[in-house]
Amino acid sequence: MANNEDLFKSIISHAKEYGYIFPSSEIYDGLSAVYDYGQYGVELKNNIKQYWWKAMVQYHENIVGIDSAIFMHPTIWKASGHVDAFNDPLIDNKDSKKRYRADVLIEDHIQKIEDKINKEVEKAKKRFENFDEALFRQTNPRVVENQKKIDEITAKYAELMQNNDLVGLKQLILDLEIACPISGTRNWTDVRQFNLMFSTQMGSVADGADTIYLRPETAQGIFVNFLNVQKTGRMKLPFGIAQIGKAFRNEIVARQFIFRMREFEQMEMQFFVRPGEELKWFEYWKAERIKWHQSLGIPAENYRFHDHEKLAHYANAATDIEFKFPFGFKELEGIHSRTNYDLSRHEEFSGKKLRYFDPETNESYVPYVVETSIGVDRMFLAVFSHAYHEEKMEDGSVRVVLRLPAMLAPVKAAVLPLVKKDGMPEKAREIMDILKREYLCQYDEKDAIGRRYRRQDAIGTPFCITVDNQTLEDNTVTIRERDTMQQYRVNVDELLNTLRGKLAGM
Ligand code: GAP
Repeated sequence: MANNEDLFKSIISHAKEYGYIFPSSEIYDGLSAVYDYGQYGVELKNNIKQYWWKAMVQYHENIVGIDSAIFMHPTIWKASGHVDAFNDPLIDNKDSKKRYRADVLIEDHIQKIEDKINKEVEKAKKRFENFDEALFRQTNPRVVENQKKIDEITAKYAELMQNNDLVGLKQLILDLEIACPISGTRNWTDVRQFNLMFSTQMGSVADGADTIYLRPETAQGIFVNFLNVQKTGRMKLPFGIAQIGKAFRNEIVARQFIFRMREFEQMEMQFFVRPGEELKWFEYWKAERIKWHQSLGIPAENYRFHDHEKLAHYANAATDIEFKFPFGFKELEGIHSRTNYDLSRHEEFSGKKLRYFDPETNESYVPYVVETSIGVDRMFLAVFSHAYHEEKMEDGSVRVVLRLPAMLAPVKAAVLPLVKKDGMPEKAREIMDILKREYLCQYDEKDAIGRRYRRQDAIGTPFCITVDNQTLEDNTVTIRERDTMQQYRVNVDELLNTLRGKLAGM
């Protein structure tokens, strides 16, 4: 593979070619930043959601789930701050007429400098034995100079964003001599704010319909149901409410495939705690969530925390779990200590009390909240892109294999008669009928066995079960493992138990 950009392109075309992800409305030339999940994509997505739901709701006795509506009372978005402050800073290039996010232009500029540093490091790694990367980064003059540039730009940029300084953002773009990638010019408009919420009308327009919004996060559905769940579930603090559902954002710079979409899905959990205990729980959830990611078997070096230095006014701690995507480390999940901001704002705007009576202290108070929030689609991209491998085989051919964690793989096993005769298809069908009650399996008798193995490798099926001549004599089949391609024989009576053992943890 030539470079990460080529690798990413191959991943995107593989997702389409093998029924994982299709561009939305493709026969009408697509709809930007909207995607459909195909026959394998929907299975992988469902398995990710189930894996999360089990870890959060089933394994934590004090967390319950809900499923709130996408449409909510419009005042909710006033209270949450989304109407006034859920904005992106936009800038247009006057020559190409192309629109950009001002913050993304600056972040891309920083990334380019970071790429230069990484190139320098990679070059040196190849040159020196016993290479000490940390020392190299501290002493190499070009790396030191570029790192200094990054630190200065990052500090300035964070300050401008924090102060919502749009004039300053434009000036920084001019100072950094950032040009439009299309026109190549620096002929920029002023920066202005653009609200990311989609709105629509509820009721008949003629009767003066209300403007309502498609929710930009699922979290507010949890906050407004806090008391319903607490009372009906007789929940005691600390407790959590989890939800999986669609969210919508009118992203202006929508790119990198399913990384940034206009319609996407979130898995969010709000954990309600006593005031003063939120930072302890913030640390707890940081540890829990990184454990969840690593339980999938993806090596730890692919994850890192990025603690927020500048916090939103309602937060007293925040971190991102970043994942090493083919285009670099980027946010996969957010963990935020949101104080009692959201519940207090809903008290204020609704005029209803959202308090918890604490039987231990005999006090009533608005609980504090620690939130964990991860995008299903982003998690899909993390797992899918990490799983994609092109392997050179001894015969010179290339095996494309999706090394998906077995518990997430769409198809768990393929049942394959070696040939389409001598009673093998009938025996394979019998096996298929047993296995499919427990796992999604696939029966395939078309083409030579090697081609069928490759087809299953390409969709990430962890086990291929082959019925051959010996099966008819001693009731054994071969199991071929996707990652090692090793094969061994198992008695048909033991097959289901063997698979259960290998797929345990689901
Ligand atoms: N309730 C908090 C919240 O929504 P966020 O950082 O805006 O926080 C949380 O979003 C997660 O949702 C992100 O870490 C990311 O995984 C996912 N996400 C956000 N915007 C997205 C988009 N446009 N496309 C795909 N996933 C997105």
